[in-house]
Formats: sequence, C-alpha cells, structure tokens
Amino acid sequence: MTGTEHLLRGVAPLGGDPTDLLLADGRVAAIGPDAAARARTDARVLDAAGLVALPGLVDLHTHLREPGREDAETVRSGTRAAALGGFTAVHAMANTTPVADTAGVVEQVWRLGRDAGWVDVHPVGAVSVGLEGRRLAELGAMAHSAARVRVFSDDGHCVDDPVLMRRALEYVKAFDGVVAQHAQEPRLTAGAQMHEGVVSAEVGLAGWPAVAEEAIIARDVLLAGHVGARLHVCHVSTAGSVEIVRWAKARGIDVTAEVTPHHLLLTDELARSYDPLYKVNPPLRTAEDVEALRAGLADGTIDIVATDHAPHTREDKDCEWAAAAFGMTGLETALGIVASVMVDTGRMDWAGVARVLSSTPARIGRVDAAHGRPIAVGEPANLTLVDPAARWTVVPEAMASASRNTPYGGRELVGAVRATFLRGRPTVLDGVAVEPGEHA
Ligand code: DOR
Repeated sequence: MTGTEHLLRGVAPLGGDPTDLLLADGRVAAIGPDAAARARTDARVLDAAGLVALPGLVDLHTHLREPGREDAETVRSGTRAAALGGFTAVHAMANTTPVADTAGVVEQVWRLGRDAGWVDVHPVGAVSVGLEGRRLAELGAMAHSAARVRVFSDDGHCVDDPVLMRRALEYVKAFDGVVAQHAQEPRLTAGAQMHEGVVSAEVGLAGWPAVAEEAIIARDVLLAGHVGARLHVCHVSTAGSVEIVRWAKARGIDVTAEVTPHHLLLTDELARSYDPLYKVNPPLRTAEDVEALRAGLADGTIDIVATDHAPHTREDKDCEWAAAAFGMTGLETALGIVASVMVDTGRMDWAGVARVLSSTPARIGRVDAAHGRPIAVGEPANLTLVDPAARWTVVPEAMASASRNTPYGGRELVGAVRATFLRGRPTVLDGVAVEPGEHA
C-alpha cells in the first residue's frame, strides 16, 4: 500500500446528494458508507461538506510559453496555476520558440510537464512548419512520439491555405487526431486591433470583422465534411460562428467548438479604456455575441470552455494598445467565470460544468482514458472540489501564473476551487498549492 489515502466527507459529486469518497492508490476506492469503513486508520480526512466534486478540469487550449518565453511563463509556473484553477490536464499550444512542430519539441514539453508534476501536460503539435502555413509539420512523428500528440493547431495563426488545411485534416485521420483551427482570415484582419463595429469606429482602432472568423469556419466545416475528418474550432467569438457550427452539426459534420471564459463575459465596450488588458485574439465582441455564445454553450452547440490562457510579460502588455500583445491569462479564473456566468444564472448545472470543462475536452483531446471520467469506484482519482457559494475577488498580484495580464482584477466571482487531486495526490488543498512531494 503506497501513498496517503484521502477520505472526503460530505462531498456532492456533480452537485448531487452529499456522500463520502475514499481516494486510495490513485483511484476512487469507495463511495458512500463504504468509504469510511474501508479507509485506513491513517487516512487524511477532509470535511468537504458543501463542496461539489467534479472530474478534474481539462483545458484544451493553454499557452505555457516554454520553450522560448520563460520570462512570461514556464511549464512549471503555468501548470501550478492550472492546478490552482482546478485542472488536472492541459493541452499546451504549439506557438513556442522553437515552435512545437517536431517530435523533439513536443517530447521536451511533455517531459517538462511530467517532471513538474502539477497536471498532465499534453502538447499540441503545430499543423505547419514554423506556423508559417506553407508545409505540413511532422504530424505523424509527433503522434507517434512519447508525447502521443492528438491535437494539432497553428493557434495564433490561421491555416488559411485551403489545400494545406485539407491535407492536415486527411493526415490526422490516420491516428485519430483533430485539427484545431484558429479561424482568422488574415487578409480581412491585416492590422486589426479590436472587433469591427460601433466601438472601433468611435475609438479609432482598426476593426476585425466577424466575417473574418465566420468565413474560415464555414470553409473548414465543409472541408471536414468532405474528407470525413474531425475539426475543432478554437475560441469561437461571434453569434454567426455559433450559427455555422450549429448548421454543420445538424448535417452530421464531425465538428466541435470551444468558447473562452472571456468571450462569455467581456465585450468590446471595454476597449474604450484603451487598456491593453482587453486586447485579445479573437477580439472581445458585442453583448449580442456574448449572449449567443452563452446560449450556444447551454444548448450544446459549443462543446467546451477552453481558457486560451495567454501569459505576457509587462513589457509586452503594459504599453499602448497598438503595440501590446494579444492575450490574457485565464487558468485561475476559468471555473469562477463559468460558475458566475452559467451556473449562478441558472443556465447550467454542475453536471454541465463537468461536461464542458472536463469530460468533453478530455474526449476531444483523446485523453479520456485518464481524465473527464465519471466519479465512480475504480476510476482514476483526478478530481476538483469546488465551493459553489464562495465569493472571491480577483487579485492579479496573488495569481500563480508568472504573468499578471488578467483582465479581471477587482472583479468578484462566485465559485472557488478548494482542492485538486491528480491520481489521488492533492495538488491543491484549502485553495493552496501543495508542492509535489510534500504529500507522498
Ligand atoms: O490572444 C491570443 N493570444 N490569441 C491567440 O490566439 C494566441 C495567444 C498568444 O499566444 O498570446
């Protein structure tokens, strides 16, 4: 018998009836009255009354910046932030320096994640060499590497060449992979700084039309249908995009879509402040778009929430709008935003949160043998405990990410992560990170 056992008393799986859970040997060992009876005498007992147990959260879209921009984030700092946000697995985007377009780089990121020990790190492989959109990267070599890559994306860049996109979709079928597209027609967004609309006209920043996103999604769902491949659409941000995904699903096309927490909450009105914290790609859209995204997530048109955690240094973000980098951090606030926007408003229950933040992203990323599992005896003990009633205020300086570019400073959120377990080992307890090795 190895490792500390944990007995979680009075916890509510998926927000249902409270019960006891025994975590032992990395698995859920018992549920209900059996749990206390079977616990070893030295089991650590946690009073989890009032807490909701979810399968550990899975992020399909995280930027960890290593290798290359360790001043903004490292695999270690980013995955520690992820654990504090309730995650047990993240997919690390490929736009690093060097780009994750070879087996060597994805294996390096995978190893760094394993050695850090906070969450399972699943590298995303680039679709094209150097994210340049010209030649396919070594997709097969990355798929067959130790990192077992299944998600391929040029995120940050759009695979705009339809022939290259078609080839990528065809290629990944061989190993059950998925192409995750950053939908942005580059010619329609040259120099664009924010959503194209009333606000961009008034503040005088170059606009980014909704059609630049929608045109690529429309093309790609048709391509995916034509070749019979899996397509995932990153950070859907417009009402029109939701309509196109709905149409494609109704036709049986194998497409999934994600929305970010920030596109569920924030609008382009915030750009009036000229504060680059609100500069992000795709841009914040209108209140009508936000409403369509919430409705699309509630009715299942949008499959998942993914953070697009995009840490940037002060130098890259604390400058005038036009010069600032696109992106905002998100790992530590995602659960609170989804709880505030979807659960507290009655639009989604906790089983729904488990679906959009755990089981479905795990399935899309093909990590569902270990993550996003039902909370049942024998399953891996990858779990997140949430206090659904907790109200907390976001303090950027208190965040674990190496970067501070959160747009939520001072905002109150409902719903807080209290504990995270990775294969039965606590990575977070009482809302505090537990260094790997602290609890054998
Ligand atoms: O805002 C963004 N930042 N959107 C992206 O697609 C890329 C990301 C980054 O890498 O900073």
